[in-house]
Formats: sequence, structure tokens, C-alpha cells
Amino acid sequence: MTNTFQHDVLVIGSGAAGLSLALKLADHAQIAILCKDKPYSGSTFYAQGGVAAVLDSKDTIEAHIKDTLISGAGLCNEEVVRYTVSQSKACIEWLIELGVPFTENTGHQSDMLYHLTREGGHSHRRIIHAADATGKAISKTLIQRAIAHPNITFHEHRIAIDLITREKLRLKGTGCFGAYVLNRATEHVELFRAHHVVIATGGASKAYLYTSNPDGASGDGIAMAWRAGCRVANMEFNQFHPTCLYHPDAKSFLISEALRGEGAKLLLPNGKRFMDKFDPRGELAPRDIVARAIDHEMKRLGCDCLYLDISHKPADFIIEHFPSIYQRCLKFGYDLTKQPIPIVPAAHYTCGGVVSSLAGLTDVPDLYAIGEVSFTGFHGANRLASNSLLECLVFANAAAEDILTKLDNRDPLPDAPQWDESQVTDSDEDVVIAHNWDELRRFMWDFVGIVRTDKRLQRADHRVNLLKHEIFEYYSNYKISNDLVELRNLVIVAELIIHSAMQRKESRGLHYTLNYPNTDTVAKNTFLTPANFSANTSQDIAI
Ligand code: FAD
Ligand code: SIN
Repeated sequence: MTNTFQHDVLVIGSGAAGLSLALKLADHAQIAILCKDKPYSGSTFYAQGGVAAVLDSKDTIEAHIKDTLISGAGLCNEEVVRYTVSQSKACIEWLIELGVPFTENTGHQSDMLYHLTREGGHSHRRIIHAADATGKAISKTLIQRAIAHPNITFHEHRIAIDLITREKLRLKGTGCFGAYVLNRATEHVELFRAHHVVIATGGASKAYLYTSNPDGASGDGIAMAWRAGCRVANMEFNQFHPTCLYHPDAKSFLISEALRGEGAKLLLPNGKRFMDKFDPRGELAPRDIVARAIDHEMKRLGCDCLYLDISHKPADFIIEHFPSIYQRCLKFGYDLTKQPIPIVPAAHYTCGGVVSSLAGLTDVPDLYAIGEVSFTGFHGANRLASNSLLECLVFANAAAEDILTKLDNRDPLPDAPQWDESQVTDSDEDVVIAHNWDELRRFMWDFVGIVRTDKRLQRADHRVNLLKHEIFEYYSNYKISNDLVELRNLVIVAELIIHSAMQRKESRGLHYTLNYPNTDTVAKNTFLTPANFSANTSQDIAI
């Protein structure tokens, strides 16, 4: 018998997006929040640099809009950019009211109570932060508030497998009303029904071998929405962060762009600077340019890493501003205050995602997508640093407001069938999952990385097809597990990335291909629609 839960709103994900939405709605609705692991296991907790917002009286909304549009390389939706940036101050005030301990200004910036740092592509100091662990401070505050609210229930160690829609069940009407969810502790599948379902599952950078993201960033929300009939867009724009610590045990630990904002220099192994050769903004050029320059120099010199050096700044300044990064580097034998540290780029952010409106609504009624999982048109072909947390906050608010208008006006929820495991057996070959995980992430890194070619994309397409058939067959025959759910989603997301990249016959922002090095005069988004795609990816759920 399947365990069943019913709520007004089901929020899948406990990062900045999901938690903010839940808190905005909690006085008016019963809310369930699902998270794969503990509530703080998404990317939000690991965010370092901060949140971009127009807070300084010398800064302007127009300047933030302009910087976002320039970084987005012609593909941002200007209406969405204006909408988002205009709300940045209100979002920060909300966080401060909740108690987020942002770093205060100790005197060197005129009229500001809070210290603002700078990152690549920003023409002004506008990143509010909590030292170098902004995500931890935001997560802790939001989670504490949510746990304390009587209308919010956390369901930890739950991985959503698939969304339930009226269309899939061939019921009257349209729309999403729940999800099948694997309880990782009991290993049973549970049924969650709700009037409104919000996907806030974060990004898909786990599709790449080297990533700054935590383990759960496997694109589950994108794949679930795709299977439920939603369009996805701009999946070819994977952002590679230029500076992750190069050390076999560091798991691509991020070295915040704020170091470069405060004067850190990128160096070749011979100690020479090189960024000025690539862009007049040097180390503070947008991320796509810096990551590509590093990749170019590493390939040219045949070296495993380059270096980042902030040791010319006073030691107490470095330790005060970057305490976590300083400690982490020390643990691996590098003293930021005394020496350059080895860095490499790694997959960091998914600019594309589930197509959603200004209210966070997807193509499927009652289904919302907010945060990194979504495609709103805000980031264009390359996200501007620290604009992601801002987007999470703004669209959580927008979706909450939209849901609020609909709470009093709804039909009873239909029944959904029990999860049926009668056709599957226990797996005796878990090695297949581990092998396919590694293979997928390695060919995505090698063939669909920072620099692409037609040939590399064709190779990746061939491999992803083989893997997809093997994984789908495995999914149909064996009992479900966390790794299997993630792998099934990753292979879909990889295929969407490859197909989007193959469609773009130009270089723009984060998509750079040697076959088409120029940028077209007309900028177009890449939309993919499940109904027009190959049959296997929109496979029905196993009920
Ligand atoms: P996340 O915070 O990733 O949360 C996703 C949630 O969904 C998690 O709770 C996860 O458990 C849950 N989930 C996923 N799949 C399922 C499923 N199938 N079932 C149930 N639950 C599921 N951006 C900035 O703006 N400023 C920064 O300084 C910054 N620094 C960063 C540093 C690092 C190291 C990283 C990795 C990212 C950084 N980013 C930064 C990007 C930013 O942190 C993320 O884009 C943002 O936090 C995403 O928030 P989210 O709420 O959309 O998703
Ligand atoms: C960083 O601190 O460099 C990450 C900022 C971001 O991803 O926006």
C-alpha cells in the first residue's frame, strides 16, 4: 500500500527558491517541502560570493540591467531583466528582516551599512554577502524560519521520481497534481498530491565530470518537467566557473569570483598574467570569457592548471573577507596569504531549463518552476555573477503571489494510482549504474565542454543514445533507487544539452564552437518541445 500525503502546495526542493516560496505562502496554505537529503544539501548552501542587488545610492537599476544584458550576450529577455533587477532591493530587505547576517561595512564604503563586493561583469560594487559563505547564512536563516512555521512540513531524504498529471493518467482536464516520491530511508515509493506543484530542484551541472555543485545537482526537475510535457530552453548554455581549486581531494571546491573582485590575479605557471590578452576587463571579464581564456592557455601550454594570486593583499584583509576559502585552501596545503593557488574551471551553473513565465508557471497548468531549474530569460547566454540567488528570490515571490490568487478557487484533487512494482526485481548489477554515471559525465566533459565542435557533439550524441537505451531498459526492469532515478534524469538532461548545442550554429556566450566561431546578428533562444522529440525521452512513468 503506497503511503499518501495531501497538501495545498508541494514544493520539490529546499534551496533559496523553494524555501522562499514556502515562507511567502505559509500563512495561507499547507505546504510540503521535499529534499533529497537534508534541507541544506542544494547549491544554495554552498554559494559564496553573494547576491547582486542595487543597494548603493551611487549604483542604478539601469546599470545592473545593462551589465546583465551585456553578460547575456544578446539573449536576455529585457523585460524579465528589468522585472528581476527592479525587485533586488526589496528581496534583500526581506532577507535582512528574516535575520540573514550580511557582512557589515567597516568604513571604506561611504553611506552603506553593508559591505558590497564586486564580481566579473559588474560595473559597480553591488554584491551583498555574508563573508565568503553567503549561501550558508541564507540557507540557515530560511531553514530555521521554515522549520518553525506550523504550516510547513519538511520531508527529508525523499527524491521525487515523476510528476503526476491529468494528461498522463488520461483524466478530464489538464494540469499537475502531485508526484511519486522515493523515501530513501524506507525504500518505498510514496504518493504526494497537491493543488499546486513547484519544482525548485536546482541545476544539472552533475552532467559534467568536474563540477562545483553538490551531488544532488542531477537535473531531476528539468527531466521530470520534460517528461510531463514542458518545453525546455537554452540547455546548451552551461556555465563553467573559471576558478575551482585544483587538488585531487578538493572535489572542485569553488574559489569565489569575489577574490578577483578584490584584486586577485590569474597567472600562468611562469607567474605571468594573461587575461589582458583576451579582454580589456582582464580578470573581471564575464565568466564565459575568463573560463575560455584559462582553457585556451591550459591547452596551449599542456598544463593541468593555472594559478590565482591574492597574496599581494594584506593577510588580515584576506582572512577577514575569505575565511572559509582561506581555511579550505590551508587544509590542502595552500596559504592564500602567501602564495598563488592552483585553479581549473568546472561546470557550475545551468543557464537553460524549464520554460517558465514571469509568474514562474510552466507549460503545464498548476506546475511552477523557480530558481536554477527554470528558464525565465533572465540570464541569456551567460549568467552574470551573483544573479542566480537574486532570480531565486524574485521568482519565488512571483510564483507565491500567483498561487495565492488561486488558493480559494479549486476543484477536489483526483485520485492517482498506487506505485506498481509488480513487474520489477531487485537489481543484481548495480555496477551498470556506476559505470554509466562515469561514462556519461566523462564524455560530456570531453565533448560538450567549454570548447565544442560538430564532430565532438556528434560523438556525444552517439554515446548518449546508447546509454539512454541501456538506462531506460534498466529502469523498466529493476527496483528504483536514488542513483537510478538520478541517472535516468541525467541522461535525459545530457541529451537535451547535446541537441540544443547541435542546433546552435554560431558561438555566443557560453556556447563556443570551433566550427562556427562567429556570433549571428540575430539572437535566438533554443526551445525544445517534448512532443517533437524522439519517442524514448518522453517515456511514461512506471505505474
Ligand atoms: P538548490 O539550492 O540547488 O536546491 C535544490 C533543492 O532541490 C535541494 O534541496 C535538493 O535536495 C532538491 N532536489 C533536487 N532534486 C530533487 C528531487 N528529485 N526530489 C526532491 N528534492 C530534490 N549564485 C549566486 O547568485 N551567488 C553566489 O555567490 C553563488 N555561489 C555559488 C557557489 C557554488 C559552490 C555553487 C555550486 C553555486 C553558486 N551559485 C551562486 C549558484 C546558486 O547557488 C544556485 O544557482 C542557487 O542556489 C540555486 O538555488 P535553487 O533553490 O534553485 O536550488
Ligand atoms: C562565486 O562566488 O564566484 C560564485 C558566484 C556565482 O556563481 O554567482
